[in-house]
Parts: sequence; C-alpha cells; structure tokens
Amino acid sequence: MNQTIELLSAHRSVRKFADRHIEESLFQTIVRAAQCAATSSHVQAYTIIRVQDKENRRQIAKLSGPQPWVEQAPIFLVFCADFTRLEAACGRQGRKTETGWAEQFVVATVDTALVAQNLMIAAQSMGLGGVFIGGIRNDPEKVCDLLNIPDNAYPVFGMCLGYPDHTPDIKPRLPLDLVLKEDSFCGTGLEKEQADMEAYDQTCRNYYLTRDSNLRDQTWSRQMADFIGKTSRPHIKSFLEKRGFLLR
Ligand SMILES: Cc1cc2nc3c(=O)[nH]c(=O)nc-3n(C[C@H](O)[C@H](O)[C@H](O)COP(=O)(O)O)c2cc1C
Repeated sequence: MNQTIELLSAHRSVRKFADRHIEESLFQTIVRAAQCAATSSHVQAYTIIRVQDKENRRQIAKLSGPQPWVEQAPIFLVFCADFTRLEAACGRQGRKTETGWAEQFVVATVDTALVAQNLMIAAQSMGLGGVFIGGIRNDPEKVCDLLNIPDNAYPVFGMCLGYPDHTPDIKPRLPLDLVLKEDSFCGTGLEKEQADMEAYDQTCRNYYLTRDSNLRDQTWSRQMADFIGKTSRPHIKSFLEKRGFLLR
C-alpha cells in the first residue's frame, strides 16, 4: 500500500458538506492537477463550468432529481465535452472542420470523464469529498440554456465538492475475477462467475442492510435489473444529435 492506493480505496460519494470555505488557490490547484489527465491526441476536449449563481444552482438541483446537495455543495461543477475550442483552432488554420463523428463523441466524453475523475481524486487528496451528478442529463437542454453551452459541446455530468460532513460506508465493488480477465473476455467459466455474482449480491445486501443511512434490502443484481430494465433518458440521442454529436 501507499498513500495513493489508500486514497483510492477510501473513495465514497459525499452528499453532505460542512459549512467551510474552500480557498480559491486550493480549488485552482485541484483543477490544474486534474488537467494533467491523459487526453486523447492531446485534444483536451472539455470545459468545466463552476456554477456559483444561486438561481442556476436551484434550477439544476431541481431538474437533477431533485438532488438538494447540488444546491448545498460549496462547489458545483458541470463538466462539458467540448469541441468548440478545436473548431476555433481549425478555423484559425483556415481549415474546415469534420465534426459529428461518433468517434469524436467518444474521444470528448472519455477526455471529460478522465479530467473529472482526476479532479475528484485531487480534491479527495486535499481532504474534500464529492459526488458526480449524472442527474443533470434529465434535462440537458435546460442545463445548456442556463449555462450558455453552445453546439459542439454538451454537459456530461456535474460534480458537487466540499469538505465532508459525513463519512458514508464504503460501497463494495465487484470481485476482481469478474472484472479482470486473462487473455479472453470469457474468463473463469460460467459456474465460477455465477458463484462470484451470488457472493457479491450477498456482500451488497449486507452493505445496504447495515450502512449508516438509507437502509434497504437490495442486491446488486436486483439494482441492475432495475437500471437496465427500463428506458434510459430517451431524449439523449436526439439531444446529442442536435448539439452536433453522433451524426455519422
Ligand atoms: C457519471 C456518474 C454519475 C453519477 N450521478 C449521480 C447522481 O446524479 N446523484 C448521486 O447522488 N450520485 C451519482 N453518482 C454516484 C454514484 O451513485 C456512486 O458513485 C455509486 O453508487 C458508487 O458509490 P460510491 O461512489 O459511494 O462508491 C454518479 C456517479 C457517476 C460516476
């Protein structure tokens, strides 16, 4: 173990924040560290918007769920996948852009996720905590309107940050054998995978039954059946196309 592994292993999403100011210099240090994430072809295809305006916060908290921590967190960020900067660079070279490719969508979205995860880890390393907010995609058009996000950019997720006011139990992750395979996707065989899954369901059930708040009788498999067994933000495809993504 070293401090980095310990930090990563102690991850939990934080949704309650202490009333404690975050120094601007600390925030900027965290963002600079986050920017050091690897980036596909050096494109850095993201823009991070810090939302300070109270009314915008209120509206985004509401459309995201409601999720009160979006309004309450000392810092709330919206991470946008963003090709506008590349378009401008291309224009300055007197070249025409070739946008709309599905591959470009993957590149920008992956870049955005990498910088965000780096930012979360950098923040945690400085004693902050936070939570990602995919809920902003409930109404991404409205988020674009509120934050003036142009075409060729889209809000991927938000992130609340602040000094934690609680220490939630750590949520157990899948057993290593289920996510790490050797040489082939088909790993240890169906029987072993089934046994691993059942054991993991039991682990998660114990976690949900005994954690410090929001106790419930739930397993991972049941949770995933709920997740994958329903329509999933059906507006997203047309929203992304309208923004100029996923056109070809
Ligand atoms: C892209 C993304 C979007 C998420 N959106 C939300 C959200 O809208 N609201 C929320 O409370 N948690 C959200 N989460 C947090 C997850 O629910 C959480 O990471 C997961 O349940 C594992 O728990 P842990 O982070 O405490 O280990 C999101 C996480 C990710 C990575």
